[in-house]
Amino acid sequence: MPKYRIAVLPGDGVGKEVVAATRIVLDKLAVDAEYVYGDIGWEFWCREGNALPDRTIKLLKETDVCLFGAITSKPKEEAAAELAPELRGKGLSYFSPIVRLRQEFDLYSNLRPCKAYPGNPLNYRDNIDLVIFRENTEGMYAGVEFFPMPQAVKDALSVHPKMKAFKDVPLDEIALSTRIMTKKGCERIVRAAFEYARKHKRRSVTIVEKPNVLRETGGLMLSVFRKAAKDYPDIQAKDANIDAMCMWLVKNPHDYDVLVAENLFGDIISDLAAQLVGGLGFAAAGNIGDRYGVFEPTHGSAPKYAGLYKVNPLATFLAAKLMLEWLGETEKAAALEGAIAAIIKDGKVRTYDMGGASTSLEMGRAVAAKL
Ligand code: IPM
Ligand code: MG
Repeated sequence: MPKYRIAVLPGDGVGKEVVAATRIVLDKLAVDAEYVYGDIGWEFWCREGNALPDRTIKLLKETDVCLFGAITSKPKEEAAAELAPELRGKGLSYFSPIVRLRQEFDLYSNLRPCKAYPGNPLNYRDNIDLVIFRENTEGMYAGVEFFPMPQAVKDALSVHPKMKAFKDVPLDEIALSTRIMTKKGCERIVRAAFEYARKHKRRSVTIVEKPNVLRETGGLMLSVFRKAAKDYPDIQAKDANIDAMCMWLVKNPHDYDVLVAENLFGDIISDLAAQLVGGLGFAAAGNIGDRYGVFEPTHGSAPKYAGLYKVNPLATFLAAKLMLEWLGETEKAAALEGAIAAIIKDGKVRTYDMGGASTSLEMGRAVAAKL
């Protein structure tokens, strides 16, 4: 029996293509694994009213880890309009399946390394090497939202003096998205960042928040961070506001090392940091909990490129590298990263984003040939 059962969820759009390219690489690495494919994504929303069917959740529970491609997500009205006619008007609402997966499996750390590989023509600067820890289960993406606002919610909120400003707004003209943060949620992401920093001999951990305005949620995160920092005297603890951080990351990316942030803020700085090292074609993520991990490229399904096999699959290869590390296959992970770095440095095989014309599968074969 193979050592690992790896769930593979290609998703839709270019997700299928980048995952197919990644299989070429994983097969060459001869990972001792059985790959089991599952359903997720837009077609299952349209056909079944559920982009993450129960059978897929079950499948994941029977595997060690998951490699995920990409899925299309659309705003509420557009999603409802694409449902199969017999499913319309039943109150089904679309919720991003990757966000749901993160919550259902309690994958609280979203690990996003952003490294400028030498020779990448898209590097904003050389030698950038950032690692982001994004809280992945709560905060602004907890999913507790209302529109129209129920009267009971409005009544409950009116204990807050600032609700006076909204007292005359009709219920169907007021929307609410909550930012729910718990001490436990803050603590575990902050500690994951410090532990990573210690293990990988990183210099500093920076908390990215906005406690001067978001006084309660931001304040909680900052105080938890400062307290945890005391247990890691060997690592410099810094704090920055999200808005200023977006400037500093562009101006002085080398001043930063490990960054930690709440869900929405982490989402934002992840894309910014990804662009510093070549854009979404190089951005991989590990959604990691205490028992399970889902590894993915952070780009979307790019419907306009679907079927063209032109999207850069390196982000998915880097996701596979994170997956192998998480499984404890450190040698294979290092070999894979070495092969990726070599292909980038050689500069002969390049996808369109890098100024070349190689296909996703050609990139897969080129990286496999280096292994
Ligand atoms: C990401 C993506 C997702 C997110 C979307 C697709 C829901 O932007 O992984 O960063 O916001 O978490
Ligand atoms: Mg994002």
